[in-house]
Amino acid sequence: MNREKPIVLSGVQPTGQLHLGNYEGALRNWVSLQDDYRMYLCVVDWHSLTSDFNDVKGLQDRIFQTMLDFLCSGLDPEKVSIFVQSDVKEHAELHLLFSMITPTPWLERVPSYKEKADLLGLDSYGFLGYPLLQAADILLYKADYVPVGKDQLPHIELTREVARRFNNLYGDVFPEPDGLLSKFPLIPGTDGRKMSKSYNNDIKLADSPGETAKKLKKMITDPKKIYKGDPGRPEICPVFAMHEVYTITRNVNKISETCKSGDLGCVDCKTNLAENMNTSFNNLRNKRKELEKNRDYVLNVLERGAAEAREKAAATMSEVRKSMKLVRSYG
Ligand code: TRP
Repeated sequence: MNREKPIVLSGVQPTGQLHLGNYEGALRNWVSLQDDYRMYLCVVDWHSLTSDFNDVKGLQDRIFQTMLDFLCSGLDPEKVSIFVQSDVKEHAELHLLFSMITPTPWLERVPSYKEKADLLGLDSYGFLGYPLLQAADILLYKADYVPVGKDQLPHIELTREVARRFNNLYGDVFPEPDGLLSKFPLIPGTDGRKMSKSYNNDIKLADSPGETAKKLKKMITDPKKIYKGDPGRPEICPVFAMHEVYTITRNVNKISETCKSGDLGCVDCKTNLAENMNTSFNNLRNKRKELEKNRDYVLNVLERGAAEAREKAAATMSEVRKSMKLVRSYG
């Protein structure tokens, strides 16, 4: 692996089976970066405990399912170090040291903290420190870029502030990373809102063609198009938004015209979308099924990823300890 390449780190919570929003918004972006960057991809199991601490029974299966989605999407362990956060203890050490130099108000004012704490009824010490653990994830690898969704930009900003504060106090150790927004389109969920596991409006990579068609059948369309002959408005229809991703351009134009003219009804339009979508995901789903039978391979990818991550993490931590005078030499 080429050490000269800019370093990219991203993290993902092990939520289990990933959905098409995760695929279009994150996975495809990572796959497109893996050749040109030195990439680390961290499955953040400790972060997931900030909200799922009372649901640890399925944790290892959620990690496994997430890994299947990563690998069937084309992330290549020869190019990317994929690892589980808790396998690299340096994340915890750096988080602890950062916690000494980070004023609590910096964390309290991170947008979404208060709202989310109220919404989930959570107010743990770890939950407050969530973005600081994220800063440790990123800075441990001296990442130059962090590919994330827009909602994560405040966490990147905090990461930069922590890096700056550390460097001012102890000397130049950390670069200030930049967020890298995905160039891939976000696709809507079946109810027209953002696709999300918690809204129960998602289509999984692991869904069968039949399940996919069934979910699409229930999908919301233009509420003013009740009968086939009614003129539709593709620009506000989430089914059309999906056609724009999964249907070839020539046909997309035809769908738009025939929807507007009333020649195309929603039922046919959805059947057509299901076919196109299932064709797009056919290879990937077959690969996923193969991988599912191959637990040892998946475990092996994670073991090797952790070893690669530890090497970089250890180098950074030895610099950190030196600069903070945590190393003794009485010689
Ligand atoms: N907070 C991120 C999310 O929910 C997950 C995450 C943890 C992360 N550590 C990270 C993302 C480091 C990027 C870099 O999506």
